[in-house]
Amino acid sequence: MRIEVLHGPNLNLLGQREPNVYGSASLVEVDAAIRSAASELGVEVGIYQSNHEGGLIDRIHEVSARVAGFVVNAGGYTHTSVALRDALAAVGRPFVEVHLSNVYARESFRRESLLAPVALATVSGFGVRGYTLALRGLVGHLEPSRGG
Ligand code: DQA
Repeated sequence: MRIEVLHGPNLNLLGQREPNVYGSASLVEVDAAIRSAASELGVEVGIYQSNHEGGLIDRIHEVSARVAGFVVNAGGYTHTSVALRDALAAVGRPFVEVHLSNVYARESFRRESLLAPVALATVSGFGVRGYTLALRGLVGHLEPSRGG
């Protein structure tokens, strides 16, 4: 089973970007935690970051036939991108929406997610651990004997 993890805009700056909100781990460290969780679960993982809406959409189109599902932190596009939501809905693979911060405890504009209505689940506020929780939950959904 293969899962694709997508990181949206500004997540390349993790570790330097508002560390009080997003934590001190860099994206390289986040990706290492994801790869280690994937190997424990016995699944393959692809990881892609883009600051561009079209880059994320192209990636979804490119990999969807080869993956069982997605873990997606769309960053600011969560709250604005009809096109990203349409791409995820179009390919028909389950995805878990992830946010490092608790978006419901922040500015009111972060409380709306255009992705949530088409997501399998949302994990928000657990920091880096949110990605590994999302991966475990998604794998468990796809193959209950594996994800726990
Ligand atoms: C974020 C929350 C978004 O509101 C914000 O625009 C981000 C990061 C998070 O991981 O907490 O870029 O998705």
